[in-house]
Amino acid sequence: MRKKVTKAIFPVAGLGTRFLPATKAIPKEIMTLVDQPLIQYAIDEAREAGIKEFIFVTSRGKSALEDYFDNNPILEQTLRKSNKMDLLRTLRRTNMESGAIAYIRQHKALGLGHAVWCARHLIANEPFAVILPDDVIASEEACLKQMVDAYAETGGSMVAAMEVPQAKTSSYGVLDVKEDMGALVSVKGMVEKPKAEEAPSNLAVIGRYILSPSVLRTLNKKEEGAGGEIQLTDAIAKEIGGENGVYGYRFRGKRFDCGSKAGFLQATVAFAMEREDLRDELGEFLRDMMAAEQAAQ
Ligand code: UTP
Repeated sequence: MRKKVTKAIFPVAGLGTRFLPATKAIPKEIMTLVDQPLIQYAIDEAREAGIKEFIFVTSRGKSALEDYFDNNPILEQTLRKSNKMDLLRTLRRTNMESGAIAYIRQHKALGLGHAVWCARHLIANEPFAVILPDDVIASEEACLKQMVDAYAETGGSMVAAMEVPQAKTSSYGVLDVKEDMGALVSVKGMVEKPKAEEAPSNLAVIGRYILSPSVLRTLNKKEEGAGGEIQLTDAIAKEIGGENGVYGYRFRGKRFDCGSKAGFLQATVAFAMEREDLRDELGEFLRDMMAAEQAAQ
């Protein structure tokens, strides 16, 4: 019987330089998509996938993140007294059960692989998920839930994958596909940020992973890869040809790169347009803006 995936690592120790000056004082993960911080979307997805233990790899200046998950009894009391039960329910979704959440420090941003390695003692010897909160995925069924279900059949290690234009492959980890089975592909190689002309395919890895604990043992070696960083992709690639192999999973859903400004803005519009309370007003505004732009051309 395969062990269930109940632990997830959320690496949030990066510097978030693309959002300076905002990220001088606010962690990127607390930035708000409509009315929820990015991290809440990641937590909701993890919960839907059955995750019970949430491990954050943080760094200096991320205390707002820890505060966000704390209970706020005074605020809850005020909402209860004024009978604002909807808001109270919204607030309660942000509370984390005592003991379900852990914070580990990454003292220096040495790369995503290093950030994941920092959580090794909390993972011990079981499969675990990694979620990058920058990648927000709009889908009917949570992306990680889709992956957990697929993993129950395959075992091994699994990365979320999506097709990107060949010219953009240099921004991603890219899969060298052994066998394409539709949603699932088996992998014979992985390259971090290849030059477009050298990319083995246009199937890119995005920020959801289910990993075998042996990946942590590889990360123990602290080998540097692309950009002089300790790359998670390189450690996963070492699993290829091993006992259980590596799979890519083409998830059903739309991914937004909220680590970039354009991606964040696109996600803001897309998520707002899904909301009944915002759709009409925002839609009208966008249509007016487009019309004014076209008239000006
Ligand atoms: P990014 O490559 O987006 O880097 O990291 P960043 O520092 O967050 O943002 P920019 O590029 O400076 O704007 C991808 C994910 O990996 C985490 C980040 O927090 C983010 O969730 N990460 C990256 C770490 O936790 N530690 C690292 O050393 C590197």
